[in-house]
Amino acid sequence: MEILAVDHPLVAHKLTTLRDVETDSPTFRRLADELVTLLAYEATRDVRVSPATVQTPLQAAEGVQLSKPAPLVVPILRAGLGMLDGMTRLIPTAEVGFLGMVRNEDSLEAQTYATRIPDDLDGRQCYVLDPMLATGGTLVAAIKLLFDRGARDVTAVVLLAAPEGLRFVEQSFGDEHPIRIVTAAIDEKLNEVGYIIPGLGDAGDRLYGVV
Ligand code: URA
Repeated sequence: MEILAVDHPLVAHKLTTLRDVETDSPTFRRLADELVTLLAYEATRDVRVSPATVQTPLQAAEGVQLSKPAPLVVPILRAGLGMLDGMTRLIPTAEVGFLGMVRNEDSLEAQTYATRIPDDLDGRQCYVLDPMLATGGTLVAAIKLLFDRGARDVTAVVLLAAPEGLRFVEQSFGDEHPIRIVTAAIDEKLNEVGYIIPGLGDAGDRLYGVV
């Protein structure tokens, strides 16, 4: 498994404002969107392309185009939705699947309540979006589902990761499946109720308000 904590002053600046308890929901949403676009740039470094030739006004030029099948982007509802536009801005031809998952706040286990993912992901590159990689339970369940349907490799784009969650994802998969985690930062630890410390609080609530 490859872990990339993106080291860039703009990423650090936006993340600092996201963490700030004084940041309101509209600002939080805008910053999360901008931050995802910066992370997506790194996350898509291995996106598959094929050679392509175009005609410039002067002559033919060799280049590349995104290979088919198009990558699949999978936001994990609810908080992952706040990352979708930032990702598809960079890959507008990506298809989008949805996974509704909720963490049982007592057991901290992931429960799936909605799945809208193609049955056959044979050879597809998949990008999972979930802002907080905390215990890793949700992400492991999501990645398993994608590999079970034939995905070739999975990149998870997260805003923050806890060391415990990173370890759990790594231990849950062998080497046969390429997995990458791209994050704005790796925080210190989880607290006793599974929140990332120092973190930014409940990402879904901060994006959308408490429901
Ligand atoms: N989910 C969140 O939204 N925040 C955390 O700190 C952990 C899980």
